[in-house]
Amino acid sequence: MSRSDSRAPSARALLAIGALIAIVAVSGCSLKHDTPNLVHGKQLFVQKCGSCHQLSHAGTQGAVGPNLDDAFRQDRANNLRSSDIRGLVEYWIEYPSVGGVMPAQLYKGQAARDVAGYVSTVAARPGQDSGELATAVQTVAQKPVSEQNGKLQIDADPTGQLKFLASSASATTGQLTLRMLNKSSVPHDIAVKGAGVNEVGPVVSNGGTSVVAATLKPGTYTFYCSVDGHEAAGMKGTLTVK
Ligand code: HEC
Repeated sequence: MSRSDSRAPSARALLAIGALIAIVAVSGCSLKHDTPNLVHGKQLFVQKCGSCHQLSHAGTQGAVGPNLDDAFRQDRANNLRSSDIRGLVEYWIEYPSVGGVMPAQLYKGQAARDVAGYVSTVAARPGQDSGELATAVQTVAQKPVSEQNGKLQIDADPTGQLKFLASSASATTGQLTLRMLNKSSVPHDIAVKGAGVNEVGPVVSNGGTSVVAATLKPGTYTFYCSVDGHEAAGMKGTLTVK
C-alpha cells in the first residue's frame, strides 16, 4: 500500500463520521419538531377532513372522499410502517389529485404532520381510541329544541362533525324561520322538507348563519343539511309541527 492509499480511507472515514454527526444532528432536531401530536391531529382531522372521509377511530362519516380505513388496509396488510403511511397522508394533504375535490394544504407544517400522524396511527386498525385520544374531540350533546315566536334555532356542531346540536325539534303550525349558526369551517346549510315542503337556506361556514323560512302545516318534517353527503352522514333531525 502506498501512503496516499492509506490516507484516502482515513479521509473517507472522517467524512463518514462527519456525515453521521450531521445526520444525528438533523434527525435529533427533526425528532424534536417532527413528533406528531396525535391528540391535536385527531381534533384537526375531525375539523377539516372528517366531513369528506370516513375514519372509524375518529368517528367521522364523510362520504365525498374515500374511506381512509379502506384506503390503507392493503398497506397495513403489506406491513407498511406507520411512518410510511404518515408520509403518504402528508403528501396527500400537500398535493391532492389535480382537479379533484380535495382542497390542497388544508393544513401545513406541524399541523399537517399531526393530522397525518393520527391517520397513520389509526387507519385500518381495529378497536377504538383510548386514553387522551378518546376524549380529544369534544362532543356537544344534542338537545331537543322548540320554537320561540316563530323562530327555531338549530346550530351545527362546532367541531366540524356532520350533525346539528339537536336531533329533534318542535314548532306550532304556521310561518317558521329556521336559523343555523355554523362555527365550523365545514360548509353547511339548514333545510327543511316533508309534506310537500322543501326549502333550503344558504351554505355558510366559519361563523356564518343560514336562515330558511317555510309555512308548515301540522305533520312531521325533516330538517337537514343539503350539502352533498351530509344528511346521509347523520346531519338531520325530525321536526314535529302541531
Ligand atoms: C372536500 C372533501 C375533502 C376534504 C375536506 C378532504 N379530502 Fe381527502 N380526499 C377527497 C377525495 C374526493 C379524495 C379522492 C382523490 C381526489 O379526488 O382527490 C381524497 C383522497 C384522500 C387521500 C387518499 C386516499 C387513497 O385512496 O389513497 C387521503 C389520504 C386523504 N384524502 C386525506 C385527507 C386528509 C388528511 C384531509 C384533511 C386535511 C382531507 N383528506 C380532506 C376529499 C376530501
